[in-house]
Amino acid sequence: MRSRDDEPFHACLRSPESNQASPGVSTRCRKGARSRYAPGVPETLEPIITEQQIAERVAELAARIDADHADVDELVLVGVLKGSFVFLADLARRITLPRRIEFLAVSSYGDREAEESGAVRLIMDVRHDIAGKAVIVVEDIVDTGHTLSYLMRLLGARGPASLQAITLLRKPERAEVDVPVDYVGFDIPDVWVVGYGLDFAERHRTLPDICALRRTR
Ligand code: IMP
Ligand code: MG
Repeated sequence: MRSRDDEPFHACLRSPESNQASPGVSTRCRKGARSRYAPGVPETLEPIITEQQIAERVAELAARIDADHADVDELVLVGVLKGSFVFLADLARRITLPRRIEFLAVSSYGDREAEESGAVRLIMDVRHDIAGKAVIVVEDIVDTGHTLSYLMRLLGARGPASLQAITLLRKPERAEVDVPVDYVGFDIPDVWVVGYGLDFAERHRTLPDICALRRTR
């Protein structure tokens, strides 16, 4: 795997539609800056996408979802726990169409078996039947693509009227399976990110910005 350590983040971040560097993304990327969120911990956290940039992008994505589903009676937004809970909360409140919220949970990177084999396991299912519904799976991040690919197969087999996926973040360099994603917030380089719902060992989920986390020893 190629290291992008020498490359500034703003050169790597892309807003997928425009294929341009996302505007303003570099402003708070102070490479190597000491974490202001976790003083005393041997790690650095660098904001790579700010709260405001996220808010703007979420509003754009919600507007596109509204426009693409003008003829739909009700959307079912299926959040993938835990990482998507903040994104789902903001997105669902920006969408203006009638919508319902569901959650499911899958095994995560804490599960050694899942990490090594790419196997994904459902540990909590949605509450209501999705047959005949317009469904959008809401992910925090698509990394290798195994989780989303598994979920699209699982939910697709239940006869939804339509099935789409949205992810706030995607790491194209890490893709192992080709899974189409209908709406992508930001393509990011191969760095571990936390904040806005994303964690490292359950830490940092509630940071307002998305930050790159690096261990310093
Ligand atoms: P995938 O199956 O490899 O695409 O992994 C998807 C899941 O891995 C995400 O839903 C996250 O829970 C987790 N994940 C992958 N990369 C990161 C990261 O950089 N920060 C936090 N969680 C991540
Ligand atoms: Mg996730």
